[in-house]
Amino acid sequence: TRPLRLALLGCGTVGAEVVRLLHEQAADLAARIGAPLEIAGIAVRRQGRDRGGLPVDPGVFTTDALGLIKRDDVDVVVEMVGGIEPARTWLVEALRAGKSVVTANKALLAEDGGTLHDAAAESGADLYYEASVAGAIPLLRPLRESLQGDTITRVTGIVNGTTNFILSAMDATGAGFAEALDEATELGYAEADPTADVEGFDAAAKAAILASLAFHTRVSAADVYREGITEVTAADVASAKAMGCTIKLLCIASRGPDSTGTESISVRVYPAMIPRSHPLASVGDAFNAVFVEAAAAGQLMFYGRGAGGSPTASAVLGDVVAVSRNRLAGVRTPSESSYAALPIRPMGEA
Ligand code: HSE
Repeated sequence: TRPLRLALLGCGTVGAEVVRLLHEQAADLAARIGAPLEIAGIAVRRQGRDRGGLPVDPGVFTTDALGLIKRDDVDVVVEMVGGIEPARTWLVEALRAGKSVVTANKALLAEDGGTLHDAAAESGADLYYEASVAGAIPLLRPLRESLQGDTITRVTGIVNGTTNFILSAMDATGAGFAEALDEATELGYAEADPTADVEGFDAAAKAAILASLAFHTRVSAADVYREGITEVTAADVASAKAMGCTIKLLCIASRGPDSTGTESISVRVYPAMIPRSHPLASVGDAFNAVFVEAAAAGQLMFYGRGAGGSPTASAVLGDVVAVSRNRLAGVRTPSESSYAALPIRPMGEA
């Protein structure tokens, strides 16, 4: 069988791990897909950088992402760069050219996912993005496929590892926010600029993607009510404790009738007090967990590592296998279904 050829965009922590796993598991992946995978090219910002002995021919690196995407021998485009531009231009180009797209780009999907979904639907191309929310945890596929026979009523999640680490540390040691943030930074959980995490922007982007899939409605990050954890004090944590509760940064997306009886959805991210008996209360460290409630399925819980090179690469490769199989079979799986278009309640209205 003809090999399926991949264009990888970006070769940072996740990209390098994807390259490593593609090499290490080449035989198994080929057997699972029914055709071998080959790297057609890897687009990087700077050529000639030492890439720590990655198992690829140095000739595959290029700084011409668009040129690589447009090549006739490229079947699948895997985007691991992040940010809105130039990623959006690249992915729209790839989809229009009928390439299958796998992306980890949560910011782009949350800000302007509609543009990507429309381009995919128009050209009949696959668009998969499991790695964009909660890293390794299989979560989007269940929402997008497994639960499509059911009605999801509520999604409650801890979808940011950095803030969960900080709040868990505050709960365990009585430390204040600044002290816990310092510890998270020292241990490599928090980034040099932790704003996106501690102010809830990262969680809000993930909440938008989850709500869009759960409620068949396009929700963007701007529709999400957002509060971060910078104002949470040691005293807040202590009084939550005294009440048998703990504080978690939750994303809560729910559907139901609003005050006028109109079926609508509400999507919020804020530090919330939850009873210690709640399954999300015991999610410690930098782990993620998402609790899904559906009319027929009842309560489901998804738990695991939400960040890091290997966990994210696992999700990316799962998508690569899925789109490759679809490609061989000549079929596509819709990337969303937004038929319901439910009204989104004003900011903060529960
Ligand atoms: N900064 C994010 C987190 C990484 O802490 O969860 C995963 O998106």
